[in-house]
Amino acid sequence: MNLSILMELAYLISAVLFVFGLKRMGSPATAVRGNQLASLAMLIAIVTTLSDQALQGRITWGVIAGGLVLGSVIGAFAARTVKMTSMPEMVGIFNGLGGGASAIVALAEYFRAGGFESSGAAVSIMIGILIGTVTLSGSYIAFAKLSGQMTGNPILFPGQKILNAGLFLAALVLGGMMVANGPTLQLVLIFTGIAFFLGILLVIPIGGADMPVVISLLNSYSGLAAAAAGFVIGNNLLIIAGSLVGAAGLILTNLMCKAMNRSLANVMFAGFGTEGAGAVEIGDRTVRSADAEQVALMLAYAQSVVFVPGYGLAVAQAQHDLKKVAGLLEERGVDVKYAIHPVAGRMPGHMNVLLAEADVPYPQLYDLDEINDDFPTVDVAVVVGANDVVNPLARDPKSVIAGMPILDVDKARTCIVMKRSLSPGFAGIDNPLFYNENTTMFFGNAKESMVDLAKEVREA
Ligand code: TAP
Repeated sequence: MNLSILMELAYLISAVLFVFGLKRMGSPATAVRGNQLASLAMLIAIVTTLSDQALQGRITWGVIAGGLVLGSVIGAFAARTVKMTSMPEMVGIFNGLGGGASAIVALAEYFRAGGFESSGAAVSIMIGILIGTVTLSGSYIAFAKLSGQMTGNPILFPGQKILNAGLFLAALVLGGMMVANGPTLQLVLIFTGIAFFLGILLVIPIGGADMPVVISLLNSYSGLAAAAAGFVIGNNLLIIAGSLVGAAGLILTNLMCKAMNRSLANVMFAGFGTEGAGAVEIGDRTVRSADAEQVALMLAYAQSVVFVPGYGLAVAQAQHDLKKVAGLLEERGVDVKYAIHPVAGRMPGHMNVLLAEADVPYPQLYDLDEINDDFPTVDVAVVVGANDVVNPLARDPKSVIAGMPILDVDKARTCIVMKRSLSPGFAGIDNPLFYNENTTMFFGNAKESMVDLAKEVREA
């Protein structure tokens, strides 16, 4: 068998492994295996591509080994040290690097060939540069917003949409001109610059709360850019893998929008999360609060308890202590469940992963649709560091989160909310739940509160 057939075979195996890996990521039970399969696919792809280049004498084995070691060390270090709550930032950076790499491949091909070899190559190179560069700069802004390096509030100015549309049009016209009449270095650089600014301008009007959706969309873009790069260098596997990432990112983006009952256009252009938008008339309503001992008594003598985890649980890393409290309640015969909102936390599946870390049995986790009808018969719903996903304002058509599906904890016989203050959640909106007659606030850091609660439940 000659070398090129061997390579195509390796690419085929890699592509099949990517598809099976993705399929297995559809369920928490098989996700780890799916991840391993996809990693193996990536290893095969990298080894095959680089060996081919080395055998053709285009690159030395030393450079390959150096790149592999450097990349692996950075990747492993980043993945091991990143906090779960910072995962969207890391994905954002990786997307940006992926987009940037695809743009560089396209630019390099332009320089290597000294222009465009055919109109097909020209279109692929232009698309690769445009989408790759937009992904690079847009992802950096998303990262900066999430990590607090720049304001998470939407940055809006008059004529913004017209400017964005104008830049996009300019990029299309310039790209079209170069495809038709041939490129010049100056035009290629102007084209890349426009794409860079477009990426920034597209992401700055989007509020921090919507960044996970934007990151998923940019993930999809990075896949499309990789597919374009695949066309540029004639690499089938890159086309397949890029298309898979493009499609998966788009599906995830759509699922997140659905879970918030928002359209993608609303996420991208509405400036959701502007300061002050969430003030509601609370009047002089009072708040009931209790200490660990009182809350422990309510829980210990309940028949059914549903825990509703949110972002605050993740920040406080209180999942193990939550599991301890749940275990103590179960020993007393209390029926314990966990209600999972699809966008609780800061990334899809965030709460599932968090609770899995603490070995919470998967059958105890219930999706919003599965548990919402049960709340009226639940004795105590315990909201742990969640806010927006239990905000009854979503039922008010005038509210900015109108229509967002919420967990109906306010319908439980008693609702306990564990958080540090009455401050709003990520969407920046007040929460009338805290003032309901059947709500009791248990103020404090979720971790310390859980530790105290475990002690009191043991003694109850
Ligand atoms: P949030 O609405 O952000 O509320 C989290 C609450 O946790 C805060 O109100 C905060 O109140 C509390 N908290 C923070 N640190 C804490 C600590 N150490 N101990 C105890 N409590 C703490 O969270 P959520 O209910 O999970 O909602 C998620 C939000 O993210 C939604 O707006 C959703 O639309 C948005 N979002 C999520 C996704 C995905 S995929 N997950 C995607 C896009 C948007 P205190 O400061 O008073 O403690």
